[in-house]
Amino acid sequence: MFASRLLSRLGRAAVPTAALACGATAAAVAVLPAWSEPAVKAQSWDTMFNLPEQKSIAGKTALITGCSAGIGKATACGLASSGCNLVLVARRAEKLEELKAEINRRVPGVSVTVVAGDVNDDALYEKLVALKVPQKVDILFANAGLALGKETVGSADLSDWKGMMDANCLGAFRLIDLCLPEMVKRGGGHVLATGSIAGLESYEGGSVYCASKHALHAFMKALRFETYAKNIKVTVVAPGFVGEGTEFSEVRFKGDKAKAVATYENLKELRASDVAAQVLWAVRQPDHVNVDLLQVMPTDQGSAQRIHRARRS
Ligand SMILES: NC(=O)c1ccc[n+]([C@@H]2O[C@H](COP(=O)([O-])OP(=O)(O)OC[C@H]3O[C@@H](n4cnc5c(N)ncnc54)[C@H](OP(=O)(O)O)[C@@H]3O)[C@@H](O)[C@H]2O)c1
Repeated sequence: MFASRLLSRLGRAAVPTAALACGATAAAVAVLPAWSEPAVKAQSWDTMFNLPEQKSIAGKTALITGCSAGIGKATACGLASSGCNLVLVARRAEKLEELKAEINRRVPGVSVTVVAGDVNDDALYEKLVALKVPQKVDILFANAGLALGKETVGSADLSDWKGMMDANCLGAFRLIDLCLPEMVKRGGGHVLATGSIAGLESYEGGSVYCASKHALHAFMKALRFETYAKNIKVTVVAPGFVGEGTEFSEVRFKGDKAKAVATYENLKELRASDVAAQVLWAVRQPDHVNVDLLQVMPTDQGSAQRIHRARRS
């Protein structure tokens, strides 16, 4: 017993001598290979015995759209506490100013710039260019988006369809198109976009929302192919149900709080901060590691339509 413990501590190189010293017969030792390597050799997995800090992103600049609420807002807070300077984008200027004040109070060292505007509006892009934002962005999180309605095809509201396609697709595409050339010029960067489980599977009542997120996933895959040789990281964030901390379902059901609450009835959905934590993990990976797809689901949700509603709390 003592001998085998000692052997395993000493490692393979020490086996024959140690075994003999512990009383093993010469015949038993003879069947062991004569190892010539040192007992403990440096290996790439050695770090796993002493987990390293994640990559520092202090001093980097992150542009986040859709950060007046939800996933974008939670991610902005996490990036700020990691030392990132921020450019905050959404339509509601007052919500962005509130967030800026909160971040300034809690993380005084980081710079926060508010650029209020609609991701479909030329004026937003003019402001970003005037502030030379594309020249500064290291991390671009195209997160602004929404679902509008749950009508099936044949009874849909065309303005809802247009609103989703504009914000979820063209808004993200245009912003990435604006910032990418400067990232490439500076030799690197990280582009993330919030897709969805709806970008991986379709469901009844979600035709155009699902179509918009499938299109976003396809765009990001093409972007990955176009940029992997340019030191640009590309990540799709694809959550399932995210409730707490977001306005997603209230927006989808146009202010109908009862319908919004019913979405998460008897299940424990994700919080905005759960998704933000995953985004932070992805952006803090070592330089040679790209997280292509972050699919994050509540434990209670197996797929877009497989939902376990048995919690009573
Ligand atoms: N919640 C979920 O279950 C879930 C699941 C999967 C994916 N997602 C995706 O996650 C992203 C964030 O949603 P969320 O859940 O955090 O919902 P949220 O709380 O409603 O946040 C959406 C954000 O997007 C902004 N936004 C919407 N349209 C915009 C536009 N045209 N221009 C600029 N900003 C716009 C909103 O701000 P303003 O109103 O101030 O402009 C808000 O800050 C979306 O892309 C959504 O599709 C959500």
